[in-house]
Amino acid sequence: MLSNQAGDEKRKSLHGHWSSRMAFVLAVTGSAVGLGNIWKFPYIAGQNGGGAFVLVYLVCVVVIGMPVMMSEILIGRRGRRNPVATMELLGKEEGHSGKWRLVGSLGVLAGILILSYYSVIAGWTLAYIVKSASGVFAGASAEAVEAQFNSFVGDWRLIGLCHTVFMALAVFVVARGVERGLEQAVRFMVPALLFLMIVLLVYSMNSGYFGEGVAFMFTPDFDKLTWNSVLAALGQAFFTLSIGMGAIMAYGAYLPEETSITGSSAAVVIADTSIAILAGLAIFPLVFANNLDPADGPGLVFDTLPLAFGQMAGGVFFSTIFFVLLSFAAWTSAIGLMEPAVAWIVERFSKTRAQATVMIGFTIWFIGWGSVLSFNVLSDVTFLAGTIFDNVDYLTSNIMLPLGGLLIVIFAGWVMARNSTADELHSSGSLFKAWRVLARFVAPVGILLVLINAVL
Ligand code: TRP
Repeated sequence: MLSNQAGDEKRKSLHGHWSSRMAFVLAVTGSAVGLGNIWKFPYIAGQNGGGAFVLVYLVCVVVIGMPVMMSEILIGRRGRRNPVATMELLGKEEGHSGKWRLVGSLGVLAGILILSYYSVIAGWTLAYIVKSASGVFAGASAEAVEAQFNSFVGDWRLIGLCHTVFMALAVFVVARGVERGLEQAVRFMVPALLFLMIVLLVYSMNSGYFGEGVAFMFTPDFDKLTWNSVLAALGQAFFTLSIGMGAIMAYGAYLPEETSITGSSAAVVIADTSIAILAGLAIFPLVFANNLDPADGPGLVFDTLPLAFGQMAGGVFFSTIFFVLLSFAAWTSAIGLMEPAVAWIVERFSKTRAQATVMIGFTIWFIGWGSVLSFNVLSDVTFLAGTIFDNVDYLTSNIMLPLGGLLIVIFAGWVMARNSTADELHSSGSLFKAWRVLARFVAPVGILLVLINAVL
């Protein structure tokens, strides 16, 4: 079947290609599995009342997340450039408009803003490696663990330093273009993380409050569900899958022609969702067992998990390893968050990868101070969604990512010719038809409905 891509020669990416399907799946899994699963999912679910939120989140992952992810990968592979240039190129090639590049620009900006606060939290996980190893949590009470956390985030110099160290690590890897090495780390990191989540789960099951935890997560109470929590669930689905901002599009640009987009997406979605659910199952029983508040906010994992590890045999060891793994997970996500901006600067301004990374890294580090100070000096400065940190988080997860995702599925479903997408998805059968119905109708209508209702 003839596609409207010029000539038979397929494009090549400037930045090289993944060596195998496995390398691609590992890279995308590395970007998806991160603080979103273990830090953010439990606290957002807690703040939004549990059950009904979790259900809406799962529905969003399947009917919106999956088609958006497939659309991003197929657009990325077809354009084979940075997200800005790819959207411009395909917009013109499909006979529409080069203005579609703005979707790419929105993504570049979203990545910068997300990493600005993501790095602050990742810095906390670095500090918690040291705290765990020093044994401060061994046998500590819930009050002591909470006090540890509060005095830690209250110290702006200390968490600012941790943010700086984490950004330096991220810049170092992206600048040297040695992500491939880090991607290999995903090979043992994800299974190891799963293993430790299961250790925690077993501990939780024996806490005597497992039933309460499960009920909180899986008994939907629709009275608690507001349009704002539906939006939070949609935003979380986008955030945790790394979609809506062109990161997966940038990764798709390096994907070999013959790799199955549907299969790779399904593998990533299943791995990512399982880790989030396991994290919730491990954390909520501990919250109830220790009389903590599920709506505690960003400190939730930092209050519950050290407490559990502190009471476990071998807890110092497990806790240290856990925070090492979580830092690694955050690291592989951070490099994905920078990729659209870095690839864009390299291609657009003919900078070297190192120069582009340092520029972008510095900008992100600078903006990140707004979030560093949100937990101490500026904690009383609140507007719209709350502190500066809350606002950056709300704006990116709940507005920019869904909006980016909406435009991406509209592009793939309505602007691109049927043949172009069928060509990339290697099918015109029932799977393709299902994707197309989701991308053309279900996902755009769903996103619009939630955005409109929540914002009004
Ligand atoms: N998915 C990541 C996490 O759950 C965070 C994230 C959002 C991300 N968008 C991204 C990572 C884009 C890489 C690329 O922690």
